[in-house]
Amino acid sequence: MTLSDAVRSAVGAVTDPELRRPLSELDMVRDVSVEGATAHVAIALTIVGCPAADRIERDVRAAAASVEGISEVALRIGVMTPAERKALTERLRGGRAGRQMPFGPDSLTRVILVSSGKGGVGKSTVTANLAVALAAQGLAVGLVDADVHGFSIPGLLGIPAGTQPTRVDDLMLPPVAHEVKTISIGMFLEDPEAAVAWRGPMLHRTVQQFLTDVFFGDLDVLLIDMPPGTGDIAISIGQLLPTPRCSSSRRRSRRHPMSRSAAARSPARPGSA
Ligand SMILES: Nc1ncnc2c1ncn2[C@@H]1O[C@H](COP(=O)(O)OP(=O)(O)OP(=O)(O)O)[C@@H](O)[C@H]1O
Ligand SMILES: [Mg+2]
Repeated sequence: MTLSDAVRSAVGAVTDPELRRPLSELDMVRDVSVEGATAHVAIALTIVGCPAADRIERDVRAAAASVEGISEVALRIGVMTPAERKALTERLRGGRAGRQMPFGPDSLTRVILVSSGKGGVGKSTVTANLAVALAAQGLAVGLVDADVHGFSIPGLLGIPAGTQPTRVDDLMLPPVAHEVKTISIGMFLEDPEAAVAWRGPMLHRTVQQFLTDVFFGDLDVLLIDMPPGTGDIAISIGQLLPTPRCSSSRRRSRRHPMSRSAAARSPARPGSA
């Protein structure tokens, strides 16, 4: 392996802190050459003013300098062209055409909803702790705060006010706290204290966007902190996610309670708890 190959492979192994993939896989490493003991490295960031730029720059410098025989690193930082960015976002979406929800029946991600009929019983506390505990065990964990009216996940995970997802075209990169990729409506509001008074369609679109336009990558577990009750958001999530694992204490028949067949079937159905 030549010295410049060694530098390319060290730099390519640096992970993008938001996309959580090595730079080589993201096509972010451009030219690499070595003159004497100086490594010349050019990388392309996804967007101008990428919040992770400082960290990437630091990590790339350190990776190149760690190669034996290199004592200086000359780094050039550029930005991807729109075409390159489009190719990248398509690749990140796993080749799925346009905006498709990645947590469908063929997904390997286990989806866990934390739900209850009553408010204030500890759903969000359980969700946040479960997410952090699973991530600490090495699982790739995502958390969707589906409680649009009463979001509390950013506060529970200590995500500073004003933290927003980075946008790469129409893909949103979720902030990461305690190794958990997290999205919440609280990251989009100008005034987090203001009430969110939205009707069903707005709530549906928000939840749909969280599930389709947020780049969670390959997750082992997706946790969803539900609002209390069985309102618009619960119905939307039920429609959007065909195979959720539900942690609520009791599964109820989908039929109207007055329907005869529902009444006849529900008490005796095995495994319905
Ligand atoms: N195991 C527990 N023991 C005592 N207090 C708890 C416990 N879990 C949560 N709490 C407290 O109960 C309150 C409500 O918790 P939390 O916000 O998690 O409930 P929630 O079900 O998500 O509420 P909401 O329905 O409003 O979303 C908080 O003040 C929280 O600190
Ligand atoms: Mg809650």
